[in-house]
Amino acid sequence: MSEPTSLSPAPPPDPRARRRFLGWTASLSSLTAALMLVPGLAAFLGPLVKLDQGGDWVSLGPESEFGEERKVVPFTYARQDGWFHSLQTRQIVVWKGAEGWVAISTECTHAGCAVQWKKAESKFHCPCHGAEFDQNGSVTKPPADRALARLPIRVNPQSRELEVKES
Ligand code: FES
Repeated sequence: MSEPTSLSPAPPPDPRARRRFLGWTASLSSLTAALMLVPGLAAFLGPLVKLDQGGDWVSLGPESEFGEERKVVPFTYARQDGWFHSLQTRQIVVWKGAEGWVAISTECTHAGCAVQWKKAESKFHCPCHGAEFDQNGSVTKPPADRALARLPIRVNPQSRELEVKES
């Protein structure tokens, strides 16, 4: 003897399952849209990330034009500041020391005035507030409390020109 089978209608769909499915679909769509924005955002924000990464080597002229005498020369370099591109010029002092070529900025580390090289006294003097630096740019008299900034310098092996870059 077999039991009677009942053919009851299928239960109505659970509305919560439908909502969960729509929720997952919306989340997946949002995630896909967000991922598609990543390359565009990277291109747009890239210049901000490149800020202060240092510049290109800039020629100062033939190596033969420089020597042990300290020589003040202008140094113009390209600066990328976020989305803005500009040319900046600063004065630097270049000479050949015991350990090779040296380039230091003439910008006083106290408040930014231009220091002057006093050859007779072998020191840099700042006319604004009287700070002094020795022949290598180290502070010997306040109010400056940091040495003059050094810049990377090299001799280009092909052109034999001295090159510096903003650090
Ligand atoms: S700016 Fe040089 S001592 Fe003040």
